Amino acid sequence: MSRQIVIAANWKMHKTSEQARAYIQQLSKQVELAPNELVFLAVPATSLEAAASAAAGTSVVVGAQNMHDAEKGAFTGEISANMLKAAGAQFVVLGHSERRHVFGEDDAFINRKLHRAIDSGIRPIVCIGETLEQRKSGATERTLKQQIEQSLKGITAEQLTTVIVAYEPVWAIGTGETATPEMAQEAHAFIRKTLAELWNQDAANKVVIQYGGSAKPANAAGLMAQADIDGLLIGGAALEADGLLQIINNTHPIVSES
Ligand code: 13P
Repeated sequence: MSRQIVIAANWKMHKTSEQARAYIQQLSKQVELAPNELVFLAVPATSLEAAASAAAGTSVVVGAQNMHDAEKGAFTGEISANMLKAAGAQFVVLGHSERRHVFGEDDAFINRKLHRAIDSGIRPIVCIGETLEQRKSGATERTLKQQIEQSLKGITAEQLTTVIVAYEPVWAIGTGETATPEMAQEAHAFIRKTLAELWNQDAANKVVIQYGGSAKPANAAGLMAQADIDGLLIGGAALEADGLLQIINNTHPIVSES
């Protein structure tokens, strides 16, 4: 079955508006996407407007890295879905490992954000993944299942098909240590099976499942060749447009020039 391919860069806390514009100008000029492929940039909130206007009319899709679940209110320092949308965000990353582990976000909070994002017309990328301790103690599948059950709770099968799930093993993020393609495929297949059990097989087959965690030009093709890996969520290796372009090019089949 052919699913969408979504290659995404997560800039994390990097890039001013000016740097965002320069990156997008280079990327949009040089990128060559397959017909079913999308390229997403998760940019800092302060760069959203500049990034969205630089990306207008190109194939580059701009989104945010986080949001609050409330519609509005006394939440100093927080940003709502409507604000993100008005600034040009088309998607939002929810429950990133750094939000879960550094800022203490739990699945219930992530679930409330998910519902708000869907209601607001912003496509959610929901991140899940086990820690090294959980993997070593054989708790990987239990952890993933619990995160899926709790963070995706209460959505319809139709809504599920628009959600992107990012499998980001915590031990692989920013460490240079990548899951092997086989390990990642095993986790992705488990995630899809769990989605099929909790919703239905047809909806699960349509869900884009990205891999994230030290993805880079050298390992991108091997990861993307796996049956249940439908995209990548890339941090460090996509901080420059050249890195992201190289990753995208490396995952495409080599076309003979003769
Ligand atoms: P790295 O690619 O730097 O490991 O980061 C992955 C990530 O957290 C993407 O969201």
